[in-house]
Amino acid sequence: MDSTRQVDAILAWYDRHARDLPWRRPDADPWGVLVSEFMLQQTPVARVLAPWRDWLQRWPTPAALAADDVGEAVRAWGRLGYPRRAQRLHAAASVIVERHAGRVPSDPEQLRALPGVGDYTAAAVAAFAYGARTVVLDVNVRRVLARLATGSDAPQGAPSSAERRLAQAWLPEGPDAPRWSVAAMELGAQLCRASAPRCAECPVAGDCRWLAAGRPAGPPRRRQLYAGTDRAARGRVLAVLREQRRDRSASVAELIDGWPDPAQARAALASLVADGLVLQTPTGYRL
Ligand code: ADE
Repeated sequence: MDSTRQVDAILAWYDRHARDLPWRRPDADPWGVLVSEFMLQQTPVARVLAPWRDWLQRWPTPAALAADDVGEAVRAWGRLGYPRRAQRLHAAASVIVERHAGRVPSDPEQLRALPGVGDYTAAAVAAFAYGARTVVLDVNVRRVLARLATGSDAPQGAPSSAERRLAQAWLPEGPDAPRWSVAAMELGAQLCRASAPRCAECPVAGDCRWLAAGRPAGPPRRRQLYAGTDRAARGRVLAVLREQRRDRSASVAELIDGWPDPAQARAALASLVADGLVLQTPTGYRL
């Protein structure tokens, strides 16, 4: 199938409907783009806006972040969740300083070699910060392509080589390549959503195999529960430590106070120490 018509229709839709996100503006530098992609890996756009702005005000360059303590990065990560991303972003900043003279690399291979950067993030930074023609496959792009081109609902698991070939075949030439990736992402976020898709407003509804097939459901999605999980216990321990002064350590009692399952809280603390997110000191614990 020739995809040019659908690609053009989605690009035109994007021009009219894209959200104005700060990391998409022309003045966002590669470091700002890299930070945004780390934060957006597992957190929705609305929750990333304020922490992204604060982060770049405080650490406007990789060198600024690398010169500060990793504990400060974990603290500033705040309530974004999955705080190992903060630790890895700090480690990535150090590698950028040591191996790349403080500049975020543009080569996808070099990006991929940074801590915390997988195939998606490397491709996204190369495309959005440097205009490279890389295949950017996040969940939204994958869902849009699957529905439009194959008629199936969102693919599960890591992208297959067939899926990569399809995405490569849809990628336009020239400067439209990165624009297409962000446009497909945006269509997936706003209209071609996992649940309650808004097909009536979709610019390519007439060409959509999934819609034509009666919108077949994919396999049931796992609901991401949070309350009561080990991840919630880790989040709560970190929240207490974040509020604490830098020069002070908290006792175990302070950290597990009020937690309904003290054994779970202790295990959370031990796992945070094992991950290097929390430091054990002679008097207790700190970031
Ligand atoms: N724009 C660029 N990258 C993005 C992402 N990962 N999520 C949402 N919007 C983006």
